Amino acid sequence: MSKRHLTFICQNCGAAHGRWQGKCEGCGEWNTLSEEGAERPAGPGRKPGKGRLFALEPLAGAAQEAPRTGSGIGEFDRVTGGGFVRGSVLLLGGDPGIGKSTLLIQAAAALAGHRQHAVYISGEEAVAQVRLRAERLGLSQAPVQLAAETSVEDIIATLSEGKIPRLVVIDSIQTMWTDTVESAPGTVTQVRASAQALIRFAKKSGATIILVGHVTKDGQIAGPRVVEHMVDAVLSFEGEGSHQFRILRAVKNRFGPTDEIGVFEMTGAGLREVANPSELFLSERDLGQPGTAVFAGIEGTRPLLVEIQALVAPSSLGTPRRAVVGWDPSRLSMVLAVLEAHCGVRLGGHDVYLNVAGGLRINEPAADLAAAAALVSSLANAPLPADAVYFGEVSLSGAIRPVAQAAARVKEAAKLGFARAIVPEAARAEAGDGAIKLTDVTSLAALVADIAARGKRAAAA
Ligand code: TYD
Ligand code: MG
Repeated sequence: MSKRHLTFICQNCGAAHGRWQGKCEGCGEWNTLSEEGAERPAGPGRKPGKGRLFALEPLAGAAQEAPRTGSGIGEFDRVTGGGFVRGSVLLLGGDPGIGKSTLLIQAAAALAGHRQHAVYISGEEAVAQVRLRAERLGLSQAPVQLAAETSVEDIIATLSEGKIPRLVVIDSIQTMWTDTVESAPGTVTQVRASAQALIRFAKKSGATIILVGHVTKDGQIAGPRVVEHMVDAVLSFEGEGSHQFRILRAVKNRFGPTDEIGVFEMTGAGLREVANPSELFLSERDLGQPGTAVFAGIEGTRPLLVEIQALVAPSSLGTPRRAVVGWDPSRLSMVLAVLEAHCGVRLGGHDVYLNVAGGLRINEPAADLAAAAALVSSLANAPLPADAVYFGEVSLSGAIRPVAQAAARVKEAAKLGFARAIVPEAARAEAGDGAIKLTDVTSLAALVADIAARGKRAAAA
């Protein structure tokens, strides 16, 4: 007697459980288990113990550079590592409305413009809606082939007919479903099985597939957490809703770097590439205001100057507020602790707000010094020099530690018209005194004393 086999699958991490329970043992999330029919085992049935023999190859051998196709969008290619690799599958995640569909229709049109066969399959919008967007982008004449389909079997059958496309966009993976599993579309089991089938098609045919994935409120690519492990690259498209800047970032990339970013601007006619992001991020500076410092950062191989803004104000709350946008909250806590412990800056009674201008998110510890300068500048009500940039890591002892690529940071600052840089000691030797004046600081206390003196001079004047 065969009983239909049911399992409970966590919709967050994909772990399977034999019975329902409130908390997933896999990832610790609550209320994420949902009942799904078990997947039928994939592949043809085979008696155990009987396997096909295959030849093993030596590791040494001629390695081929993966053949790539440029997308026609420079900032996109920078993130993928120089174009789409044949037969690879990418997952593009991002908040709803951030511009994923816009980016991909533009990429498909650019590719098709170079006489490459590009197909755009939408599971969320009707063909007419996709056309309408393309028209708005001025791409209505691009030779991209469209369809509004959600059945993976139908899609693969159609794509296998005739000429294999160079690029296939699947918008989105959560809307796809396959006959091979019984669960409803959008469940982890369906998403995983659909992705598996599409990945198999990509590897076999050599087409590049981009899967669009939705992101949950806590920033995870929903459901397809499991898909992240299966695909060759995971890209995330980010930006603050209120800003027009959009950042494309590689979270995982089997064929390229993961620290490069692509910068775009959302305009009335689609996404525009931003070739010089520093200019853009510094375009709306409040000159002469206390609490702002320019950080000379590095994203991948590209230097990037951004303004860090701080507001330190007396608090009326028992536990003062600490709010950060665009930076790591635990690094802010660390910098505040070092300011208290080693520099005599009392912040226990103050609310502290820190913001990275332009909606950019910074991950580098090198931003410590700029953040600290902005915080102290706000507290002391002392504007920092408008022509200075800052970089350096703050250690728990209050020392300023060297950071990578000092010369590139200084060069970018000089290019944008800055006259000086406040840097760790070692950076002076590396970057050398050239176009701009380098001032080294060895401890955070020295920087604080310097800014406080500026504040006193400003108050006296
Ligand atoms: P969309 O690509 O549909 O986002 P996603 O697929 O990530 O959900 O983009 C939707 C937003 O982009 C929408 O709020 C309008 C805006 N937009 C523009 O500002 N300019 C444009 O040319 C287009 C096509 C969209
Ligand atoms: Mg969309």
